[in-house]
Amino acid sequence: MPSTSPPTPHDYPTVPLKRFDPGVPAERAARAFYETMRLRRTVREFSDRPVSEETIRQIVAAAGTAPSGANKQPWRFVAVCDPALKRRIREAAEAEEREFYSRRATPEWLADLAPLGTGCEKPFLERAPWLIVVFKTMKADDGGGVYYVNESVGIAVGLLLAAAHHAGLATLTHTPSPMGFLSKVLARPEHERPFLVVPVGYPEEGCRVPDIGRKAVDQILVVNLGGEGPRKTDV
Ligand SMILES: Cc1cc2nc3c(=O)[nH]c(=O)nc-3n(C[C@H](O)[C@H](O)[C@H](O)COP(=O)(O)O)c2cc1C
Repeated sequence: MPSTSPPTPHDYPTVPLKRFDPGVPAERAARAFYETMRLRRTVREFSDRPVSEETIRQIVAAAGTAPSGANKQPWRFVAVCDPALKRRIREAAEAEEREFYSRRATPEWLADLAPLGTGCEKPFLERAPWLIVVFKTMKADDGGGVYYVNESVGIAVGLLLAAAHHAGLATLTHTPSPMGFLSKVLARPEHERPFLVVPVGYPEEGCRVPDIGRKAVDQILVVNLGGEGPRKTDV
C-alpha cells in the first residue's frame, strides 16, 4: 500500500517542524533584524547596574539553540557574578595582557588595535555585572567525539551576543591571550578549553565607542546565479 506520509531519510524519530512566522514578509523581517543588529557595538565601559540571573539564563539558552557538528553542542558557559572571582579573572587577564602589549603583539597587530583604544587595563572585567566565560568542550558528555568545535562554538557565541543585544544589554568579546588561566580560576575539567570571555551588562552612561565602520554589503556579498557570472544586487 502506498504511504501517505512524506518520505523521511532514515528510521530515527522525527517531529513536525515548528516554523517561525515573522508575521511580515521575509524582506521586511530581514531588514528589521539588520536594523536591530547594526546597533550592536562592543562596549568597554560598563555600568554596574545589575542584570538578573534569569536574563543571563535566557541569553545562554538562546546561545544553546545554535546548530553544532553532529548536534554535539560542544560548549559550556560559566556565568560569573561573584566580585572576588571577577577580580581574580581581571588580575590574571591583565598580567597576560601586559605581556601581550609589551612583548607578544607584533607592531602590525598593535597598529590595528590602536583605533580601538584597547590596552592592558581591563576594569570592565570587574565592573560588568556578569562575565560569561565560554569554553569549548573537546569531548562529548558521554566521552565520545565532537566535530567542528570552533565553528559550532563561534555560532553559539554569535547567538549569545545577538540575544544580549536584543535584551538591551551590551557585550564585549574579550580574548585574553593566552587564556589558560580561566580553566584554573574557574576549576573547569581538562577537556573544557577557554574560548572567549563575554562581559555582559548595561553600558556606562555617556559610553563612547570607536568610530569605525562596516564593509558595505556589496563588499562582502557575491551573488552568483550562474550563467552570466556574479552580479551585485538581487532583483
Ligand atoms: C574573536 C574576537 C576577539 C576579540 N577580542 C577583543 C579583546 O580581547 N578586547 C577587546 O577590547 N575587543 C575585542 N574584540 C572586539 C573587536 O575589537 C570588535 O568587535 C571590533 O573592533 C568591531 O567593533 P564592534 O564590535 O563595536 O562593531 C574581539 C572581537 C572578536 C570577534
